[in-house]
Amino acid sequence: METVSILPYVILFLFTLLSFPFIRKQKSGLPIKRFKLPPGSMGWPYIGETLQLYSQDPNIFFLTKQKRYGEIFKTHILGCPCVMLASPEAARFVLVTHAHLFKPTYPKSKEKLIGPYALFFHQGECHTQLRKLVQRTLAPDAIRKLIPDIEEIAVSAMDSWAASGQVINTLYEMKKFSFEVGILSIFGHLDRGYKEKLEENYQIVDKGYNSFPTNITGTAYHKALLARKRLNQILGEIICERKEKRLAEKDLLGHLLNFKDEKGQTLTEEQIADNIIGVLFAAQDTTASVITWILKFLHDDPKLLEAVKAEQKVIYGSNDGGKRPLTWAQTRSMPLTYRVVLESLRMASIITFTFREAVVDVEYRGYLIPKGWKVMPLFRNIHHDPEFFSDPHEFDPSRFEVAPKPNTFLPFGNGVHSCPGNELAKLEALILVHHFVTRFRWKVVGSQSGIQYAPFPVPQQGFPARYWKESSSFIQHVCP
Ligand code: HEM
Repeated sequence: METVSILPYVILFLFTLLSFPFIRKQKSGLPIKRFKLPPGSMGWPYIGETLQLYSQDPNIFFLTKQKRYGEIFKTHILGCPCVMLASPEAARFVLVTHAHLFKPTYPKSKEKLIGPYALFFHQGECHTQLRKLVQRTLAPDAIRKLIPDIEEIAVSAMDSWAASGQVINTLYEMKKFSFEVGILSIFGHLDRGYKEKLEENYQIVDKGYNSFPTNITGTAYHKALLARKRLNQILGEIICERKEKRLAEKDLLGHLLNFKDEKGQTLTEEQIADNIIGVLFAAQDTTASVITWILKFLHDDPKLLEAVKAEQKVIYGSNDGGKRPLTWAQTRSMPLTYRVVLESLRMASIITFTFREAVVDVEYRGYLIPKGWKVMPLFRNIHHDPEFFSDPHEFDPSRFEVAPKPNTFLPFGNGVHSCPGNELAKLEALILVHHFVTRFRWKVVGSQSGIQYAPFPVPQQGFPARYWKESSSFIQHVCP
């Protein structure tokens, strides 16, 4: 009797056990047993290969792995099992053709600082709708109108460096420049008081973002959380003022305020604030790091600098010695300078890789990427692969006279999350270089080699240099 009563349970248990692989297969759409994990080492228990990665230049870590294991390999970093992908096809698979199988993934501590509604944390319909708003503000039609303002920001910054005669931390100044341009594209002409309050608090958030995330009073992370709250208040005031004045501006804030979904729902103030901070965050350090590299590469190659100068002087001359603003058409016909920008983006590869997480078990070229594992397309490895870029460690803008092979040049990513600010970033760089080389000169101070991470790879100590106007002499400014 006893035996009979437990029999259904035994059968159910056996059935469940036997059907488990089948259930996994259904869920993921893959007979996972057939596939093996990619080659590579998972390192030590718990810590994986975190120490190996952080005890050396991360680029050497990635390159050594690629040489040993090929285009796809596994590792274990910061408590996460990862699959790294170092080929254009693999990056395209994750970011474009099979993007729905991978979701954006960021540590919760970072998401909290930027704000959970920011564009890059989302997927699917919600992401598509938000992205359209951001893209509209950053499309060529919108940013061409910003040229005179960007020029003004650039020239007044350079004038102040030259007037000071001091050694300038180029990266730090470029961060100020790209922040101002970010503010311009988000708010149009914003009241100076608001701008200063936003900048002051944003810098605290930025510092905390790159620190150890502990919520103990006095730590950089805790200060950042408080500053982030203050940013919400400041943004709330700006939004309130905009609503009162009933201004229908075509900047990002205007688009966010006017948004209505198909059910007539508008965005909350929190959603608007998170997306504004998200765009500022995506725009500032990236653009500043790349422009710093451009100046460094130009500085290191006097012949190239002369050629760029010659190209820019023609435009400068045709604008009455810089009396008239640059036109959109002029920014689109600076072929050599443009190639310098592209080559700097490739060489520096400041976004070394990106992260996604597999939402189901995925098969790629016979390998299994298990559900929940992080997936990292390695942009830098692709940009420095001699198969796609000959002599990859040489700075050679002429390589861009021919378009790179598809999916091999990914400084702005690829697919649904690719950078909507790429045109603005390139425009900022072109405008800055135009004014630098036509009106200013610079001399590097101290060590001229080496890389530091701040948080992106940048020239050592932020490329310290003295700047002076071309019309006046260097001696005059250094020894008044
Ligand atoms: C040289 C400068 C820049 C570089 C190298 C850069 C690079 C990137 C990359 C690689 C991504 C994709 C990340 C991923 O797939 O995980 C990205 C996304 C993004 N970038 Fe940029 N970026 C730059 C400047 C800017 C600027 C100036 C803005 C805005 C004004 C901006 C706004 C964004 C936003 C909002 C995203 C998220 C897009 C989404 O998730 O749909 N970026 N950027």
